Amino acid sequence: MNIKILSGVVASIAMLLPGMASGQTANFNIIPQPQKVEIAQSVAPFVLDQKTNISFAKGNLKHDANMLAQYIEQSTGIRPVVGKAVKGGLTIALDIDKSIKNAEGYTLKVDSKHVRICGATPAGVFYGIQTLRKSLPIVSGKAVKVEIPAVNITDAPRFAYRGTHLDVARHFVTTDSIRQFIDMLALHNINKFHWHLTDDQGWRIEIKKYPLLTAIGSKRDQTVLGHNSGKYDGKPHGGFYTQKEIRDIVKYAADRYITIVPEIDLPGHMQAALAAYPELGCTGGPYNVLEMWGISDNVLCAGNDKTMKFIDDVLKEVVGLFPSKYIHVGGDECPKVQWKKCPKCQARIKALHLEAKDGHTAEERLQSYVITHATKLLKSLGRNIIGWDEILEGGLADGATVMSWRGESGGIAAAKQNHDVIMTPNTYLYFDYYQSLDKANEPEAIGGYLPLERVYSYEPMPKELTADEARHIIGVQANIWTEYMATFKHMQYMALPRLAALSEVQWTQPEKKDYKDFACRLIDFAKRYEQLGYNYAKHMYNVAIHVDSDAKWHEVVVRLTTAGNAEIRYTLDGSVPTMSSPLYTGPIHLQKSANICAAAFRNGKSSNVVRQDVSFNKATTCPVTLLQPTHKNYTFDGGVILTDGVVGDSGYGTGRWLGFCGKDLEAVVDLQKPADFSHVEFNTCVEKGSWVFDARGIEVSVSDDGKTFTTVATKELPAMSEKDANKVYNHKVDFNPTKARYIKLLVKSEHSIPAWHNGKGKPGFLFVDEICVK
Ligand code: ACM
Ligand code: ZN
Repeated sequence: MNIKILSGVVASIAMLLPGMASGQTANFNIIPQPQKVEIAQSVAPFVLDQKTNISFAKGNLKHDANMLAQYIEQSTGIRPVVGKAVKGGLTIALDIDKSIKNAEGYTLKVDSKHVRICGATPAGVFYGIQTLRKSLPIVSGKAVKVEIPAVNITDAPRFAYRGTHLDVARHFVTTDSIRQFIDMLALHNINKFHWHLTDDQGWRIEIKKYPLLTAIGSKRDQTVLGHNSGKYDGKPHGGFYTQKEIRDIVKYAADRYITIVPEIDLPGHMQAALAAYPELGCTGGPYNVLEMWGISDNVLCAGNDKTMKFIDDVLKEVVGLFPSKYIHVGGDECPKVQWKKCPKCQARIKALHLEAKDGHTAEERLQSYVITHATKLLKSLGRNIIGWDEILEGGLADGATVMSWRGESGGIAAAKQNHDVIMTPNTYLYFDYYQSLDKANEPEAIGGYLPLERVYSYEPMPKELTADEARHIIGVQANIWTEYMATFKHMQYMALPRLAALSEVQWTQPEKKDYKDFACRLIDFAKRYEQLGYNYAKHMYNVAIHVDSDAKWHEVVVRLTTAGNAEIRYTLDGSVPTMSSPLYTGPIHLQKSANICAAAFRNGKSSNVVRQDVSFNKATTCPVTLLQPTHKNYTFDGGVILTDGVVGDSGYGTGRWLGFCGKDLEAVVDLQKPADFSHVEFNTCVEKGSWVFDARGIEVSVSDDGKTFTTVATKELPAMSEKDANKVYNHKVDFNPTKARYIKLLVKSEHSIPAWHNGKGKPGFLFVDEICVK
């Protein structure tokens, strides 16, 4: 804990106040953790009771005072009087202190007579209010009194831009849900709500000049089931926000010091708009509001002057609704196939002398022209643009801020070009990814695997940047794409508690971050989720199983962790652990296959049981050298995951599978001494909708020196047909018994996607796991 006692002893508040009814005592072990918390041990606590009142310096702070009164009542049942003293009662004072340097910084001082929150600005005061609010016990009914320990807190955020994105285009949610979402952000000290309002599957913002955008574009007739399964639910889906509703929501957010950054995604992700105004597309349509997921080839025609006018008109109305300095204009995932064929787009390319050069095609430069056009218009209206990292392709528009989502490389490149950057890498901060590998017990997600600990571990300042360049990393954001979240409750489950981990990435200085400590505080913090009625994922109460292979000792090393100090008990035979199962006291070293089963016990009660099978064969724990590169997004821990004893199951993006695209898996396994074998097997994970295909060929060769290899088996595999299932495929190769130290496995990927698929001719992905040698 980073809590400091003024006498110099470090301890938690719970330790400080033995015997006090913890339900009636404030506790500053909150999330995000303030930068400096000094408990004044020798000073008596402040007593909050029915006579407590809240005073405020003039102006904006009246609203803050009312919010605080509301928060206190929510937690304790006590509603302090705002704006006037109560005889015999103590005061919580809100004030501005211009000497505080960070605009969102605050101090919170408590002694037996006063609680005083001072902010550099009203926003700073608000974060002080959040800290006080989160420290309060959750009392069922009405507390008689609550003791707030004497404390000096000095706090300020690490990043000025602390965002969370929500896609309401794929699944619409009500204005009430949006308000609750904003409350969720406020609870986590998040100050930017990136509202993704338009996409192929729905247009959700009323635009007065183009009424069909909502009359037609906000409705789809049905929605595909699962991962583009080809089957549909047959149920219409729709909804949009009127301009009046948007104004009210902007005000609701501003009252919580949250700026809404609206996104109108240009020039791709526009099929819903084209359904309403087909003349804005290259082919002229007709188009429907898209009923499946993925990236549509139907984009705005960049050669049509009407399109440019449409962009201007829409953005002008958007600017009228949203006071944000930033307007997000998308720029992601815009296929250029239609622009290549469209006479108008080609004429524009010619007229503007856009040429393929410096690694960018003429069509990429046309996209840059569209984004630059929007940038200039917004500049004339006093605003700046944000775009997804694709806006780097074809040249960045002046003054553009880049959201780096395809990992961090776009952000690094933009910062090096002196552009501001918001880091939102899908490798850490896409909350539509799974948060558990136990998919059988999870609602369907897009894929991937981003457990709480990985989100928490994110460090947004890339090492590649100089100090000057690093100043361009202005913030961090998580994104919530809702293809697979049909309800707001489901969305909450995906967001919580990962928003808590995000909040410490955004707020807390890196040297103060400590996952174990965070997880401990989270157990308490989650009680607030319960009280507020938020649906949240409960994996943190479970045991996390970490598996590493140790080539030196030929062991698989298993570590078990859980939040807080709960006892962990486990079995290795797949049986459900009980209070009398072995207690976990340190890493478990496995030399043979095991079915690990583990549970955490709190107050004698078991968490959910988690399982992990480890299976040994001759290749397990052996070093692997990869002769061809993995795809950069699917490298994870590299070749080692092919022999770590853990067999990848569903989902190619979980970190259990190695991914290749345009390359093949070519792995040399060093058995470390000559061994006899006659069989090699491995799995591939296929998800055709995501361009992930089965292998096209297998070759096994062997060597004694690791240099000269002799082929012992080859096998060709047919191209996949449309009807072949998405699943894990097992491939076995048998050959004459052989003795060798090195085995080379070549698994050929699909280098040219078959004609029936929308990726035809392009290379497909190949995902492989666990090489088994017998
Ligand atoms: C994105 O995820 N397409 C920005
Ligand atoms: Zn066109």
